Amino acid sequence: MTRRPFIAGNWKMHQTGASARVLVAEIRAAIPPHSYANVDVVLCPPYTALASVAQAIAGSELQLGAQDVSAHEWGAYTAQISAPMLLEFGTRYVIVGHSECRAYFDQHDEQINAKVRRCLQHGLIPIVAVGETHEEHVAGKARERVTGQIREAFAGVASGDVERAVVAYEPLWAIGSGTSDTPEQAASVIAAIRSAVPGLERARCLYGGSMKPENAAALLAQPEIDGGLIGGASLNAHSFAQIVDHARKAVAAS
Ligand code: PGA
Repeated sequence: MTRRPFIAGNWKMHQTGASARVLVAEIRAAIPPHSYANVDVVLCPPYTALASVAQAIAGSELQLGAQDVSAHEWGAYTAQISAPMLLEFGTRYVIVGHSECRAYFDQHDEQINAKVRRCLQHGLIPIVAVGETHEEHVAGKARERVTGQIREAFAGVASGDVERAVVAYEPLWAIGSGTSDTPEQAASVIAAIRSAVPGLERARCLYGGSMKPENAAALLAQPEIDGGLIGGASLNAHSFAQIVDHARKAVAAS
């Protein structure tokens, strides 16, 4: 691993403000402070728990991320949350284009590109999520699908900004399924992602989709894989801390 590892917990629609405080306390106890010297560790709670997580991580090196952002700055967009609103809590990262947002909220590539630009305009770092369906996977179309999504997401973005972004390759069929992609296959799709847009060769590219303590070491041993976007396993402090530890060891071994 040549870039600084990056482990992010995507809590999805789990945790109230109160339960989030408890989970953060457990995560703080489970991750030894020296780990942060070599790994970026980010928590992405639901919007309503951002304030309590911001408070609960104070004094630690845990960092805050959100799960989405509006493409708009302000205005008559009922139910939406803007970049300046996220910044108020000390948010640094935003997951953009998660497959659940694409599928359930009909977010399309053009909107995702607008969200990426809005993040970068405000100094927020987008974690751009891409992935292929099971049908595309078996048809051998994974690379074509994800490189298309990546080109659209970064359309018109300067390579200096592209390089600051984070990409999460998350095959849809692996998310929440209990079975991850193979390390070799994930690494080869990520290699294709890196060559799709200038600047991505220096950006952090993560794997996501059923990453857990049992498979994290093998995935993170791939030089192309700089970390993970973790769903289910990030809701358990012990599992999440073990994945962070695998990332730390992967740097030490490289
Ligand atoms: P999972 O989710 O780790 O539960 O598969 C990953 C994600 O959707 O970001």
